[in-house]
Amino acid sequence: MATLDILFFMVAVIFIADADDPCKFDSRCICVNTKTNFLKATCARKNLTTIPCIPKNIESISFTNNEIENVRKDAFQYNSILLYLDLSTNKINLMNSEAFVGLQKLETLIISNNNISFTVFTSKTVFKPLVSLQYLDIKHNPIHQVAFILSLSNLQTLKMDYAEGETYFGPEYNTLRNLTSLDLSGYSGHCKMKILTPRTFENLPNVEHLDLSKCQINLILNGTFKTLSNLTYLDLSDNRCMGLRAFVNMTYDLFSTSIKILRINKIRQTFAVNTEILKCHLQHLRNTTITELYMDSNRLQLLEPGALNMLPKTLKKISAGDNQFTYGRYILHLSVLSNVQELNVSYMGISHDYLDKDEDCDIVSLDNSLCDKDFRHNINDINKNDYFQTPSDDVPIPLNVPYKLRMFHYRRCDMRYKLPAIYLLNNSLEYIDASFNALYDWQGPFHNLHNLKYLDLSNNFCSNVSKTFFNGAPNLTSLFVGNNLLGFVLPNDHTGDTFSSLRMLQTLDLAYNRISNLPISLFKSQKYLRTLNLSGNMLENVNFEIKHMANLYFVNLSDNRISILDVSFTNQINHLTKNLPNLTIDMSGNPITCTCDSIAFIEWLSTTNVHLNMHQQECYSIKMYLNNSKAGYDMLRKKCSSYMTTVVAVVSWMVIFVMILSAGLLYRYRWKIRYLYYIVKSKHQGYIKPLQVDNDFMYDVFISYADEDDTFVHSKFLKRVEEDGNISCCVHKRDFIPGNDIASNITSAIHNSRKTVVIMSQNFLSSDWCLFEFNMAKMESIYSRSSENIIFIVFIEQLPSKDLSLNILEIVQSKSYIEYPNDEYGDVVFWEKVKDTLSM
Ligand SMILES: *[C@@H]1O[C@H](CO)[C@@H](O)[C@H](O)[C@H]1NC(C)=O
Ligand SMILES: *[C@@H]1O[C@H](CO)[C@@H](O)[C@H](O)[C@H]1NC(C)=O
Ligand SMILES: *[C@@H]1O[C@H](CO)[C@@H](O)[C@H](O)[C@H]1NC(C)=O
Ligand SMILES: *[C@@H]1O[C@H](CO)[C@@H](O)[C@H](O)[C@H]1NC(C)=O
Ligand SMILES: *[C@@H]1O[C@H](CO)[C@@H](O)[C@H](O)[C@H]1NC(C)=O
Ligand SMILES: *[C@@H]1O[C@H](CO)[C@@H](O)[C@H](O)[C@H]1NC(C)=O
Ligand SMILES: *[C@@H]1O[C@H](CO)[C@@H](O)[C@H](O)[C@H]1NC(C)=O
Ligand SMILES: *[C@@H]1O[C@H](CO)[C@@H](O)[C@H](O)[C@H]1NC(C)=O
Ligand SMILES: *[C@@H]1O[C@H](CO)[C@@H](O)[C@H](O)[C@H]1NC(C)=O
Ligand SMILES: *[C@@H]1O[C@H](CO)[C@@H](O)[C@H](O)[C@H]1NC(C)=O
Ligand SMILES: *[C@@H]1O[C@H](CO)[C@@H](O)[C@H](O)[C@H]1NC(C)=O
Ligand SMILES: *[C@@H]1O[C@H](CO)[C@@H](O)[C@H](O)[C@H]1NC(C)=O
Repeated sequence: MATLDILFFMVAVIFIADADDPCKFDSRCICVNTKTNFLKATCARKNLTTIPCIPKNIESISFTNNEIENVRKDAFQYNSILLYLDLSTNKINLMNSEAFVGLQKLETLIISNNNISFTVFTSKTVFKPLVSLQYLDIKHNPIHQVAFILSLSNLQTLKMDYAEGETYFGPEYNTLRNLTSLDLSGYSGHCKMKILTPRTFENLPNVEHLDLSKCQINLILNGTFKTLSNLTYLDLSDNRCMGLRAFVNMTYDLFSTSIKILRINKIRQTFAVNTEILKCHLQHLRNTTITELYMDSNRLQLLEPGALNMLPKTLKKISAGDNQFTYGRYILHLSVLSNVQELNVSYMGISHDYLDKDEDCDIVSLDNSLCDKDFRHNINDINKNDYFQTPSDDVPIPLNVPYKLRMFHYRRCDMRYKLPAIYLLNNSLEYIDASFNALYDWQGPFHNLHNLKYLDLSNNFCSNVSKTFFNGAPNLTSLFVGNNLLGFVLPNDHTGDTFSSLRMLQTLDLAYNRISNLPISLFKSQKYLRTLNLSGNMLENVNFEIKHMANLYFVNLSDNRISILDVSFTNQINHLTKNLPNLTIDMSGNPITCTCDSIAFIEWLSTTNVHLNMHQQECYSIKMYLNNSKAGYDMLRKKCSSYMTTVVAVVSWMVIFVMILSAGLLYRYRWKIRYLYYIVKSKHQGYIKPLQVDNDFMYDVFISYADEDDTFVHSKFLKRVEEDGNISCCVHKRDFIPGNDIASNITSAIHNSRKTVVIMSQNFLSSDWCLFEFNMAKMESIYSRSSENIIFIVFIEQLPSKDLSLNILEIVQSKSYIEYPNDEYGDVVFWEKVKDTLSM
């Protein structure tokens, strides 16, 4: 039961898949529906060896690039609606004479690049069913005679080989009334025509488009094209034996055609002698209706004065690239080309491959470049007057370009000039391409280029551009100056003059200019800039202003030396992205550093709204892809947060150390600091006078004692010493200035007394104020009295020395003390001694 289910399911799946795939007939083909609900099938490059059975609903099918060797009888018998059949690039050599039966609607048949040998017989029968055929391509087959029968009367385009002697457009072609396009070009097939005569195309009078390029044409007899009155396009390119003589012959006939586009590129040998175009070469073109003339690669060097007048006034485009034009007077006459809108003289300096062999010419005619009639002069004496001097530096050159000229191509012309000031008279120039020259110094200005929109001066080795150079082209929108050496001048343009006149600029390419830095205001006038290319320079940082560029779309900073972007720049970008959601910045190929120092920048990279192109961008310092810079940023942040903890720890330890140290120092110098503090404070408040030099103290003695001992001081000490001994004393109860803080009072009292007497007792030792007084007195002696001992200790009771501090013992040691006796005799001696000591 289960097996059956699965089988059912599989069948269903296959059925659905089959119904879904429109290319049922061969799984190797790809089918799409057409507008008319039929199918378009492509079976290209599938190694098919036979043509599969094609279903009826196919409208278009291609078998190009396969291995098909034959087309069997009735291969397409059911394909009455097939319109398009491509069998090109196969190995077909056998074609059944009934191969195409059934294709009565076929419009396009391409069987080029096979091995089919057509004979009169095969071609007569095999194509017979194709009554609707409009387009037939049978190029690149081993050709024999091809003769068409009346059935192809709808044929409009025929592409075929042409073998001299075998092919001949005989009277049977007369039936191809609708044939308008004939392509015999040797580029896509075989073509060998040698001589064109008036009979060659006489049976194809309706041809409008004729491609005879690379057909080894040697001679073109008078009248060959005369009958092709509807001819609008003629391509005779790459017939290197033609030369200018056959060209002149050909031009006789053009007057009677409707010629619009004439291509005569490379009708001279690759290494032919340079030549001058003469009036007589062009005289028959004058009355033609040519609008486009292509005459590239013809080794042309000069134009006879007046020759340009021979060109028809209908001419709109001239392509004369890959020639060797030198400066000549003809430049002054360019304005006669009054309707020419596009002129191409590019690739004047290009070198040719010496292996590019000359074509073998059957008919070696006289020198190709001379007109039959007008044997004016030899090549060797090209009229010297036809040259003129190259421009001198100082005089602005007035140039009269064709009034309607819009596009001028001057690429790779090997021109090595300093661009001087040039006055362009009345012109419509919109597009100038002068890239790949050696215009090494742009002084200018080019006056009067008001219509110029596009200027390409890239690849010119230019290392100097004047600040006025672009002034003449205020409407420029695209400027390409890549691959020069502007890095020598732009960094010095701090006022931003160079580009200041280019207010309309939208595209600016400054790539590969060896720019190491750009001034802030360089692009101050470029409000409308959309694309700025600074790729391939040597920028290490960028900080120029871009915030005024309200249309900015793409900034290319790739392949520079940027490791970090200036905050001023990223801020501007942040500002811009508010209104420019599609802004893209290419940062690829820069040595972006991912360190804890640049973490702010990496964070910006990972959070910004701007589209960053950082293809395969790696961090310079650590192995980390920046493609997904969010992950990169997170990783870096983790790394740096541990780094931060280390930093915080170290710093806090240092702070603690410093605090301990200062606490120690504060403790060590606590008395000194307090002393100085109070001294300064008192001085500031005016309690103490500057240090007395002589004995002019306010008091003789300051008495320091504990409150518990005041009986001794007031009833005995003051009485004996002050009253009897006439020594002025200072005691805090009596002499301190009320309202002042006690510490200041103490300090100034000590400072203002010559000596300090310490009434030493157990009470003294246990009183904080007393110890304060003692220490202040000590400080006074050290810092204000040059270490003179001013302290005198009076012991009024016996104290064990273990209770005495080191400071006190030091004074005891210096014998500056006295003990108060308890007997009467001693009393007298004691007071005498005290008085003596204190009055000293
Ligand atoms: C066709 O054959 C060639 C060589 O035989 C092979 O390399 C190629 O992959 C084949 N192509 C297809 C689509 O099978
Ligand atoms: C072309 O066809 C001929 C026979 O008509 C045959 O001899 C020749 O080998 C074929 N050439 C190629 C490249 O298949
Ligand atoms: C040429 O084509 C037109 C349609 O473009 C057709 O009507 C006419 O019959 C064709 N001429 C011949 C001779 O078949
Ligand atoms: C040229 O084309 C026109 C229409 O485009 C046609 O009437 C005329 O017959 C053609 N001339 C020749 C010679 O075929
Ligand atoms: C030019 O035409 C004349 C007359 O038809 C012919 O004799 C001469 O060979 C032609 N010259 C070239 C170079 O085709
Ligand atoms: C070619 O024909 C033109 C007139 O169509 C004639 O003027 C010229 O002389 C002829 N050239 C030759 C060489 O026959
Ligand atoms: C061109 O045409 C004008 C008149 O339309 C005529 O005078 C002149 O001779 C012609 N020139 C040539 C070279 O056919
Ligand atoms: C100008 O002429 C050169 C040389 O023939 C050609 O390669 C180039 O494509 C032309 N440029 C344009 C824009 O047509
Ligand atoms: C420019 O030249 C054209 C044609 O020569 C003329 O019509 C136009 O008036 C000129 N303009 C100026 C500003 O000289
Ligand atoms: C070019 O700029 C000038 C002013 O500098 C202005 O008068 C003129 O209209 C502009 N031309 C174009 C085509 O934008
Ligand atoms: C560059 O051009 C300026 C004038 O615009 C000139 O003063 C200066 O000397 C030139 N510098 C070099 C290196 O030629
Ligand atoms: C940005 O790009 C999107 C899609 O590419 C587009 O639809 C949108 O209009 C653009 N926005 C702006 C302001 O250019």
